[in-house]
Amino acid sequence: MPGLFDTFSLKDVTLRNRIAVSPMCQYMSNEGVANDWHRVHYTSLARGGAGLVVLEATAVSPEGRISWGDAGLWNDEQAAALKPIVQAIKSWGAVPGIQLAHAGRKGSANRPWEGDDHIPAGESNAWETIAPSPVPFGANLKKVPHEMSLGDIDRVQSDTVRAASRARELGFEWLQLHFAHGYLAQNFWSPLSNQRTDQYGGSADNRGRYLLETLMAVRKVWPENKPLTARFSVVEFHGDDECMLTESIDLLKKMKAEGLDSVDVSIGFNTPDAKIPWGPNLLGDIAARVLRETGLPGTTSWYIDGPEGADRLIREGKIDFASIGRPFLENPHWAYHAAKVLKIDNAAWQTLPAPYAHWLARYR
Ligand SMILES: Cc1cc2nc3c(=O)[nH]c(=O)nc-3n(C[C@H](O)[C@H](O)[C@H](O)COP(=O)(O)O)c2cc1C
Repeated sequence: MPGLFDTFSLKDVTLRNRIAVSPMCQYMSNEGVANDWHRVHYTSLARGGAGLVVLEATAVSPEGRISWGDAGLWNDEQAAALKPIVQAIKSWGAVPGIQLAHAGRKGSANRPWEGDDHIPAGESNAWETIAPSPVPFGANLKKVPHEMSLGDIDRVQSDTVRAASRARELGFEWLQLHFAHGYLAQNFWSPLSNQRTDQYGGSADNRGRYLLETLMAVRKVWPENKPLTARFSVVEFHGDDECMLTESIDLLKKMKAEGLDSVDVSIGFNTPDAKIPWGPNLLGDIAARVLRETGLPGTTSWYIDGPEGADRLIREGKIDFASIGRPFLENPHWAYHAAKVLKIDNAAWQTLPAPYAHWLARYR
């Protein structure tokens, strides 16, 4: 079985190792436009040796942002600001990916370090949120979302397709649809937030329709030779998780038949009452089951237990590559740290950017 420092190929894209930087919102954009913060942040992560760098949740429309500081890709100015970032990631040997998102009922919030709560209607930086049903998230996100009409659904799907086309034009090589974490797609998928009685609510087939249709529409504009992936919450740790897992696996099989190339297995975060059993390698076994039963290659994150834990999950065949989040905020050069901890051989060191790897490999 391969390990963390073996290459991984999917479609025509090859990662130099099996370390992905998990998408992480920076909440540092203005009107969705990236700036110096993002240029330094993403370039550091690519220089830091990851094989894949997935850009943060990037909204497909203004109301699709979580906060006013979110990244966006609905206009030319935003696209122009992302262009040098894509080029920098490539020039440091990593594959540039982007996560396209719509925040649904969790939108219009303050940035996490400024409260993480909904901004009251009428205040600057507030907007009306939308969701499949007028059901608020609860806790600090009390705003009642506007129930989406069929026209609204069509519009958000078109926005997503337009953003995917822009991502293609920018040279991103890996596209991730955000179908997780209590945002719009998850709002459709979960019975906790979807109370519709039309073709988008009720049965699993109906609740999954928004996701499947969005994937199919994006597949038409995203190149066949590049991975189209989704981050998908298969459990919510609330109520009947076995049922949700089974239904999620069925939906993923349908998505695979329609062109999904890979899945990032995640958690719902769709209710404040979730009882999440936090601990090392939290989703390892769940991800293994999802990948085994769907036949999709994939990944997971959440408290992966250091380089050894990531390497083990891959060598045991549970995941194909590891998505690492906060450890990369602490140390953008986490991949060199992992290389040292795992005592990789010289050939593997040579896949990392030479100006650093040369010295670290020699004097480790
Ligand atoms: C600051 C921050 C921002 C995040 N933003 C996103 C995001 O934009 N999209 C997403 O799918 N997950 C997001 N996440 C979740 C991470 O991608 C990752 O799954 C999580 O941090 C768990 O991995 P870790 O234990 O390695 O940190 C975010 C996490 C953090 C800490």
